[in-house]
Amino acid sequence: MRPRRFVAIASALAAVVGLAAASLAACSGAAETGRVAPPASQTTTTRASCTHRPDACTTRQAADAAGVTLGTAVAASHLDQADYRRTLLETFNSITPENELKWSSIHPTPDTWNFGPADQIVDFAQANDLQVKGHNLIWDQKVIGSTPDWVLRIDDPAELRRVIRDHITTVMHRYRGKVDRWDVVNEPLDTVGSGLYDNHFRHVLGDDYVAEMFRIAHEADPEAHLFLNEAAVEYQPAKAGALIALVKRLVDEGTPIDGVGVQGHLISGSVEPGVLRTLFDELRSLGVAVAITELDIPTSSDARPLDAQATVYGQVLAECLDASCREVTTWGFTDRYTWIDDFLGPGRAPLPFDRSYRPKSALNAIRDELLLHQNGN
Ligand code: G3I
Repeated sequence: MRPRRFVAIASALAAVVGLAAASLAACSGAAETGRVAPPASQTTTTRASCTHRPDACTTRQAADAAGVTLGTAVAASHLDQADYRRTLLETFNSITPENELKWSSIHPTPDTWNFGPADQIVDFAQANDLQVKGHNLIWDQKVIGSTPDWVLRIDDPAELRRVIRDHITTVMHRYRGKVDRWDVVNEPLDTVGSGLYDNHFRHVLGDDYVAEMFRIAHEADPEAHLFLNEAAVEYQPAKAGALIALVKRLVDEGTPIDGVGVQGHLISGSVEPGVLRTLFDELRSLGVAVAITELDIPTSSDARPLDAQATVYGQVLAECLDASCREVTTWGFTDRYTWIDDFLGPGRAPLPFDRSYRPKSALNAIRDELLLHQNGN
């Protein structure tokens, strides 16, 4: 039984998504079963061989050769599974803790710090030469947010500021030098609409809380790259415009913001061609980096759903890479573990590997785009 909370958001997003013109490019032509990605090459593959012998390349090596940060969300609880680890290490050069760095996980009560699961992920990354994206420092979304009640009960601005500074500084100091990019504020805009979301932080600290969070994070770790992370701008032109306006205001005010993450939860299984490219170009014109940070693409009702899914994965990678976006993170990598099962119901198979860790056509579409962009072209 799906938690009611997800149904609320799912129906709101479905209304938005229903407006999206789901025009897909012609099927990629990959067979429904898709070419199976080659077994991991144990040899060291240089950039050159990725160009000349692409089949000898793991997807991770193809990403490295393309100068792309190819990441995925991981759960500490799955790292003891050999197939999970092997597939992860052959495919990605970056990982994002799906939940372990969120306030409710890592700092559940005023005097309790639960660093263990996040430490496990960061230690795994260090041992396997993986980058880590810190997700996230500040997020209060009334239905599925991740701020503990003890924080939501603080109504005094000075006390809330003290608590926030303590939280952000403690977490960022612990992982300084190991976590190089942070989602400082997650989803500051309305899920559906284009206003500033009326979360607890805005309610107590005012509209300028977003800029304030970035300043606190920058003081905590001046070397870290600080991102604002937003959802559902792929289908909502007004919300995309509001995101651009928010980022422009932050940049114009001298806020230490380095990048913007467009999550890429393509709930309808598609996105209108060109929308991402246009959004990325406008954001980059403000002087910030852009990234796809939580990509997943539930299969649609298409006659050949895995082909259609692969086409959209390829489209997203192409528009990102063509717009000089050099970071793409999927929100999980195997259909065995995906939040979409809760959000939309089981069986939507949104990720590049199936439940048995077999590569799908979507993975080949990702590889194809990486191989097209070798040597950072
Ligand atoms: O760990 C507890 C477990 O001890 C408990 O028994 C269980 C039952 O309540 O809950 C477990 O925590 C859950 C957690 O996922 C780990 O599975 C939380 O209830 C649940 O709310 C949480 O959902 C996560 C959600 O963010 C809210 O934090 C999803 O896994 C995660 O995929 C989702 O990811 C978000 C991004 O952070 C931001 N962008 C949107 C994206 C999708 O909602």
